[in-house]
Amino acid sequence: MQIVNPFFTTSNIPAEFFCDRIQESEELIREVTNGNHLLLMSPRRLGKTGLVNHCFASKPLFNNYNTFFIDIYDTSSLQELCFKMGKEVFEKTKGKSSKFLETLKSLRGEFTYDPVTMSPKFAFSFGQIHNPEHTLDEILEYLEHLRKPCLVAIDEFQQIAEYEEKNVEALLRSKIQRLTNTHFIFSGSERHLLGQMFHSPARPFYRSAGTLVLKPIERNTYVHFAEDLFSRYDKRIDPESITGLYNLMEGYTYFMQRTLNELFSATEKRALVGTTELNATLNHILDAESVGFSTILAQLTKGQRAVLAAIAMEGNVKNALSQDFLARNRLGAVSSVQAALRSLLKKQLISRTEGTYYIDDKFLELWIRRSYGKSLEESWQERNTGE
Ligand SMILES: Nc1ncnc2c1ncn2[C@@H]1O[C@H](COP(=O)(O)OP(=O)(O)OP(=O)(O)O)[C@@H](O)[C@H]1O
Ligand SMILES: [Mg+2]
Repeated sequence: MQIVNPFFTTSNIPAEFFCDRIQESEELIREVTNGNHLLLMSPRRLGKTGLVNHCFASKPLFNNYNTFFIDIYDTSSLQELCFKMGKEVFEKTKGKSSKFLETLKSLRGEFTYDPVTMSPKFAFSFGQIHNPEHTLDEILEYLEHLRKPCLVAIDEFQQIAEYEEKNVEALLRSKIQRLTNTHFIFSGSERHLLGQMFHSPARPFYRSAGTLVLKPIERNTYVHFAEDLFSRYDKRIDPESITGLYNLMEGYTYFMQRTLNELFSATEKRALVGTTELNATLNHILDAESVGFSTILAQLTKGQRAVLAAIAMEGNVKNALSQDFLARNRLGAVSSVQAALRSLLKKQLISRTEGTYYIDDKFLELWIRRSYGKSLEESWQERNTGE
């Protein structure tokens, strides 16, 4: 395959273009091969999904395990979770798929067959799963009997707390507890939700999994990685500018990759690029996002916009309800700021980790700053001095 751009912006990255995560991969692989379940947490866009895919594709897991991956972000019931899991198992066990369908007794009569090959198709909707608990048992039963042990990654696992049915957490826990051939990786970014689920004694999943918290890739490691990718394709980039980008994006992998992806494609062979070109690329990205970001902001109330802007301007806000912060940003009453913070969290425009509020989307953050008069170059300066 001809690689056009070595800076991947998806979460399925070929090993040679995957940056570091050596220790984290070892830890993940060690936990699951030791027969433990694993909870994988990090802020958004740092690389959880990428890490799971990377490990699943690595020799020790690829050769010895059946691996399954489902993202349940857009599900709202056990029925949908079952459907996604059933579909993934069906697709990943293609050669044996008739056998799989035979075990799904609860769905008998719902299958259709490809008229040409007469092989069964997983062509029904989740609405046809009438008894999800039973169907889930059948899926797990099937996994338990596969020759190789199974690993099931459930991405955005915090979502089960939002399900229509109230007991899903306890129900899943009790089913998972009984399995011997199947282990789970639960991942997600809602740290307080997942933390509560797995670390509070009153909850079903309490202490049921080892925890791996993903941090930003170490700065020098990323700088070397990016510099090397340019040079592999006979292009050159000033490493200091990558350090600058890292600081500006606070190490958030996606935003660095996306920026370098564009810069790479705009760079001629044998050319040398640096901070000036990086800033031009970034301004270009922010321009392109402009319509989308304006739409998001237009849907907020004036108060919510003001709070969002204040967080963008200040970066990580530790005391969002302090008099200082309110006065500095002319935000008005504590109660209304509190309400605004709640709705911004709910809309996932901001996040909170240990009391600190911040904007996950670094492009949005920089775009708001830019539209409030703080140029990209100023933000760059600000995050690249005083260290
Ligand atoms: N090790 C890596 N090397 C290179 N790029 C990476 C790496 N990890 C992540 N990325 C980049 O960061 C992006 C985000 O990664 P990923 O989707 O895995 O994050 P996530 O933590 O699952 O995010 P979310 O919380 O939004 O689901 C990827 O699309 C890719 O561009
Ligand atoms: Mg993800």
